[in-house]
Amino acid sequence: FTDTVIKIRNRHNDVIPTMAQGVVEYKDSYGVDPISSQNLQYFLDRFYMSRISIRMLLNQHTLLFGGKVKVNPAHPKQIGSIDPNCQVVEVIKDAYENARRLCDLYYMNSPELKIEEFNAKERGKPTTIVYVPSHLYHMVFELFKNAMRATMEYHGDTSNYPAINVQVALGSEDLTVKMSDRGGGVPLRKIDRLFTYTYSTAPLPRMETSRATPLVSMPVYNVWSY
Ligand SMILES: Nc1ncnc2c1ncn2[C@@H]1O[C@H](COP(=O)(O)OP(=O)(O)O)[C@@H](O)[C@H]1O
Ligand SMILES: [Mg+2]
Repeated sequence: FTDTVIKIRNRHNDVIPTMAQGVVEYKDSYGVDPISSQNLQYFLDRFYMSRISIRMLLNQHTLLFGGKVKVNPAHPKQIGSIDPNCQVVEVIKDAYENARRLCDLYYMNSPELKIEEFNAKERGKPTTIVYVPSHLYHMVFELFKNAMRATMEYHGDTSNYPAINVQVALGSEDLTVKMSDRGGGVPLRKIDRLFTYTYSTAPLPRMETSRATPLVSMPVYNVWSY
């Protein structure tokens, strides 16, 4: 059973780049009109939500029942992909460092990071939650790439880039991560477009040559690594 589960998981590894390529080709051939964009949004939201859920279950099963009990040496207490003590600030710093490396490669420089932490549950203690760290990582990694690109492009040739600010607040029920940058922002008129799959102001990455064009996160690059 586990072998079958692994086979199914691996068979669908390439789905995200394939779907992204489809979106790009659709946009090229037909442009974007509000109706088809809305249909695409409805379909892809549900598609990706199912995919994330299914793959999380497949992954969790293989991690827990895959024969050998594999303990991740860096996180020995993790249960499969779930960390009962996910260190929020550590994950955010990790995502920042990796985004920053891409930013340095691309722009020869990068903004600093400032993190503030408010743990209302256990004051003064590091914020921990029960979570899948890789999911938190992916979300903030995308936000960091956006913030860095905006900062670097807005401030152009100056060598002093304003830092990216992150606030982590844990209340009685929710964790909030708020990220802000001085990259010029987005006009209110365009805010609605931000969450659509077809919107980007970044130049189209060249798919044939490389999937790793830094800082541009067409859905191609948002590959969930499990
Ligand atoms: N922090 C930000 N500051 C300014 N503009 C932003 C920021 N984040 C996102 N944007 C704008 O929103 C667009 C869509 O972002 P996103 O969905 O991450 O796709 P991508 O990064 O591939 O363009 C970006 O192309 C950019 O124009
Ligand atoms: Mg992006």
